[in-house]
Amino acid sequence: MKFFADTAEIAEIEDLAATGLLDGVTTNPSLIAKSGRDFMEVTKEICALVEGPVSAEVVALDHATMMKEAEVLRKIADNVCIKVPLTIDGLKTCKALTGDGTMVNVTLCFSANQALLAAKAGATFVSPFVGRHDDNGFDGMDLIRDIRLIYDNYDFDTEILVASVRHVVHVLESARIGADVMTAPPKVIKSLFNHVLTDKGIEGFLKDWAATGQSIL
Ligand code: E4P
Repeated sequence: MKFFADTAEIAEIEDLAATGLLDGVTTNPSLIAKSGRDFMEVTKEICALVEGPVSAEVVALDHATMMKEAEVLRKIADNVCIKVPLTIDGLKTCKALTGDGTMVNVTLCFSANQALLAAKAGATFVSPFVGRHDDNGFDGMDLIRDIRLIYDNYDFDTEILVASVRHVVHVLESARIGADVMTAPPKVIKSLFNHVLTDKGIEGFLKDWAATGQSIL
C-alpha cells in the first residue's frame, strides 16, 4: 500500500520524505489555506520534494473552467495529479484529462456507486473519505470494502486512495482490505512507528548494554 501525506506543510513533507516511505502528497483548498502559502508556489515546492503524485485541486464547479484551471495546474510539474470533485462536471473533466494522459484524483467520494462512476470516467485515483463517513454514523471501512469488491469484479485500474484517515486503525484496515493508497496527516503516519513494547525493549537493551561497559564506536 502506498503512503501519501495529506498536508501542504513543507517541513512535514521534508521530514517524511527523508524516511523514504513517502509515495506522494495530497492537498486540498482547506490544507492550502491552513498553510498560509501561495497555492502555485507551495505546490511547486511539494512537487520537487516527492517523486510521486501530488494532488492539486481545482476549485471551479463547471467543466469548462475546471479544464482551464487544470491547464494551469498541470504546468507546475510532471507529477501533479489534478484533483476534481465527484460531480458530473468533475467526472467530465476527469475523462478529458485522463484521456490526455494527465493523472486525476476524484475526491469527495462517499458511496460505492460514486466510486464506480469515477472508475468508468478513467480516474487514476478515487478518494473515499473514511473519517468524514464515520463522523456521520456510517462505517468508512465498509465503503472501502465495497469499492475494492466492485473494482476487482470489473478489473478497473483506478486506485483506491483512502482519504480522511484519522487514526492508525484506518491505516491497518485499509491494508487488510487491499486499498492501493492511503493518505493521512503526518501525525498519523508518524504514529504508525510507535509501539510501547518497542520503547520498552530499547530501554531494556540500553540498560543491559551500559552494564557491559562496552562501546561500538
Ligand atoms: C483527501 O485528499 C483530503 O485532503 C483529506 O483526506 C480530507 O481529510 P479530512 O476529512 O480530515 O479533512
